[in-house]
Amino acid sequence: MHAAGSLKMGSSGANWVFLVLAVSLVVSASATSDDDELMIGGLNITYSCKKSNGSTVLDKELIEVALNLEYLEAEYFLWGSVGYGLDVEAKYLVDGGPPPIGVQKANLNPYYKDIFYQFGLQEVGHIRAIKALLDYRPHCAFPRTLLDLSKKNWAHTMDEAFLATFGHKLNPPFDPYRNSLNYLISTYTIPYVGLTGYVGSNPLLTGYNSKRLVAGLLAVESGQDAVIRTEMYRMKDKIVPPYKYTVANFSNAISNLRNNLSHALVDEGLVVPKYLGAEMKVTGNILAGDNNSVAYARTAQQVLETVYGTGNASKPGGFFPKGAQGVIAASYLDPDDY
Ligand SMILES: *[C@@H]1O[C@H](CO)[C@@H](O)[C@H](O)[C@H]1NC(C)=O
Ligand SMILES: *[C@@H]1O[C@H](CO)[C@@H](O)[C@H](O)[C@H]1NC(C)=O
Ligand SMILES: *[C@@H]1O[C@H](CO)[C@@H](O)[C@H](O)[C@H]1NC(C)=O
Ligand SMILES: *[C@@H]1O[C@H](CO)[C@@H](O)[C@H](O)[C@H]1NC(C)=O
Ligand SMILES: *[C@@H]1O[C@H](CO)[C@@H](O)[C@H](O)[C@H]1NC(C)=O
Ligand SMILES: *[C@@H]1O[C@H](CO)[C@@H](O)[C@H](O)[C@H]1NC(C)=O
Repeated sequence: MHAAGSLKMGSSGANWVFLVLAVSLVVSASATSDDDELMIGGLNITYSCKKSNGSTVLDKELIEVALNLEYLEAEYFLWGSVGYGLDVEAKYLVDGGPPPIGVQKANLNPYYKDIFYQFGLQEVGHIRAIKALLDYRPHCAFPRTLLDLSKKNWAHTMDEAFLATFGHKLNPPFDPYRNSLNYLISTYTIPYVGLTGYVGSNPLLTGYNSKRLVAGLLAVESGQDAVIRTEMYRMKDKIVPPYKYTVANFSNAISNLRNNLSHALVDEGLVVPKYLGAEMKVTGNILAGDNNSVAYARTAQQVLETVYGTGNASKPGGFFPKGAQGVIAASYLDPDDY
């Protein structure tokens, strides 16, 4: 419903903006003077999307937004569980993109290590499927996006969440890599934004292959979100040491922050006022949904506002310190800044 209106499209006009952004992503990059070409990390990549095999230009531009999030998920789940990322697991998908900042192995018990390694490998498949639809290089698939997965950035994100809901920061700063519970809580932030983004982009898709891919990605992202929420729901009243807050409090703080950043009610914690529960009858909220228990949607703009942590798609930050890649993301970025 709020999808199409706020998309700043411009598949041709935005390309040159993106070229400028991409140059800033990789220090060694050197652009050619041709608008359609760019040597990035020694690779020859053309960023414009072309219609192919039933996928429209818009289909591809929408799916490009998701590729940024899939890189984030792959790196975070792989590193957290096994201590390495795409560079080791599937180097061919990196395409010369910069390594993530500050990512590390989490101190996980065998149960969560097993689950999150499975999630990480699922994301490898998602990236491969997306890049295949985007026709790989030199079309509109792009190399790995610069990600900030450092403790410092996580602590900052969680502080923003607690400021919005409880009026103060966490002391000591939140460290997602510290133990299984912290890591589990941190993953609450990961598949759900992508999920709502897929719900938002789906009605705008035209091509058979694009719809098939997005439905398939949406299903597995929803499954991941359900696993994470179920694990947290089981422990919803558990205090997260050394803080005085429960697991449910963390979920509510994160969801409130994301609503703020998206300027809409598109996110719900694990325990909610009855009017947000299913049929307004329950406070338990193992899955988020609207008043018909239908998943919320985020526009591409809202996805960017949220993952940048700034509430502004023109202001990169958070997990994407240089912004997301692709035609739509670039259309929001000021070329003078990048
Ligand atoms: C980049 O690739 C395109 C298409 O494959 C090719 O036409 C062009 O000459 C290449 N440019 C450079 C600088 O290698
Ligand atoms: C092209 O589309 C057809 C029909 O949807 C599909 O079976 C085929 O795998 C697609 N080819 C590529 C290269 O994506
Ligand atoms: C925090 O958790 C406590 C105990 O579970 C609960 O009573 C309180 O409502 C929660 N607050 C928020 C904002 O989630
Ligand atoms: C941000 O979140 C807090 C807590 O849910 C809420 O009270 C406040 O109205 C929100 N602010 C905006 C601008 O949405
Ligand atoms: C359901 O939500 C929509 C949009 O927020 C609202 O317009 C509608 O009144 C709600 N319906 C009920 C039964 O609360
Ligand atoms: C979003 O950020 C841009 C770039 O910093 C700025 O020009 C614009 O005013 C911001 N928009 C809002 C609504 O804050």
